[in-house]
Amino acid sequence: MEFTKLSRGDYERQTAATRDERMQWFRDARFGMFVHYGLYSIMGRHEWAMALENFPIAEYEKLAGKFNPKPGAPREWAALAKKAGMKYMVMTTRHHEGFSLWDSKVNPYNAMNFGPKRDIVREFVDACREFGLRIGFYSSLMDWHHPDAWRAAFDTEARARFTKYIKEMNRELMTQYGKIDVLWYDVSAPMESWEGWDSLELNQMVRSLQPHIIINNRSKLPEDLGTPEGHITAEDRDWEACMTFNDLSWGYVDAEQALPYSYTPQRIVKMLNTATAGKGNLLLNIGPAPDGSVPADAVAPLTKVGQWIAENGPAGYGKKDKTVPWGANGVCGTSLSGNTVYLWNWIWPKGGEMGVGGFSTLLKSVTLLKDGSSIAFEQKGHRIILKGLPEKSPDSVLGIAVIALEFAEKPEFKRASYYPQLHGGTDVSGGNI
Ligand code: GLC
Repeated sequence: MEFTKLSRGDYERQTAATRDERMQWFRDARFGMFVHYGLYSIMGRHEWAMALENFPIAEYEKLAGKFNPKPGAPREWAALAKKAGMKYMVMTTRHHEGFSLWDSKVNPYNAMNFGPKRDIVREFVDACREFGLRIGFYSSLMDWHHPDAWRAAFDTEARARFTKYIKEMNRELMTQYGKIDVLWYDVSAPMESWEGWDSLELNQMVRSLQPHIIINNRSKLPEDLGTPEGHITAEDRDWEACMTFNDLSWGYVDAEQALPYSYTPQRIVKMLNTATAGKGNLLLNIGPAPDGSVPADAVAPLTKVGQWIAENGPAGYGKKDKTVPWGANGVCGTSLSGNTVYLWNWIWPKGGEMGVGGFSTLLKSVTLLKDGSSIAFEQKGHRIILKGLPEKSPDSVLGIAVIALEFAEKPEFKRASYYPQLHGGTDVSGGNI
């Protein structure tokens, strides 16, 4: 099924008109699992090993015969994602190494012809559906295996062949596996413009096949989603921060050696708060082992995070407004839903009292999120003091108790200030200084 190619202006007006409807589930989901799995996983040195270690293609290709995902590996990933409170997954269908994990007629260098002789993308899609997770395909534009990939930068015929190759592989992904929710392009090299990639035509083809799909910003068109990587920085659009599990590699590295670098569950929840406070998503990566097993260093932390989310989900999931992730008292994060501010307490105060600054809107009630139990409070100007708190954090999973502050109307955060002159000459902390 082809389509009349719209101009960029008409195309972007058309996609903007449907964006809110397409993004709704994504904005509510907040938390997803990235999965980097491919031939590089066999070596366990980095997903860029082929390029960084200057492997000759003929030598690297030999890995294809050794690629041996155990049956059910994608189910293991999906089961952990579900347990972790993640709502969607994005898997590398073909990384920069150029090896396709699906039954491709366009790219013979694939998991049906080499190694397992199975369609791993099919197994991934089936696993996502079994566990009720939305489905994302990572699809690299860069390719270290295809002979035209680098010539495309200066040879128009090579560029035409290569962009057609990219387009037809993505057509397979958009037509062979049913409804797909996210198309996650990566590394638009060597061409440096959307025109160089024919991205306007490519993405109109994608959307003609998958009308509800979310496309990220890495085909050199802005599309639906900003993708800060390795840092969680809010954008003035829909955005999703992608993070490795250990700040070392997206692909598998020895779990025992990775452990000291891997995120603790508390750090993962803290990242989730930063994403939530900025109205964005966190896409947290696992790099499965050579046989497809979930990396051992990720299982316990993600399981714990899931247990915590099971008790504190409303603080993260669902429609949120932007707030200040650390403003209330410096040792808690905040998230904001309508009239409710959630305090994600990284450090629980001693002495039974907690101070919260910066909100002068009338405070109606304070409760512990997980069980709705009331908490006594006093409000003076921009200063709120919670009283009668237990000596230890009431959160038994991670020690991160969430407190819900219900205001009479949508609260506006104003930093309580020792410099009243900066705020129109009034002491915004209510004269308590
Ligand atoms: C960078 C890396 C790539 C990884 C991606 C994940 O683009 O080059 O290896 O898959 O980040 O966002």
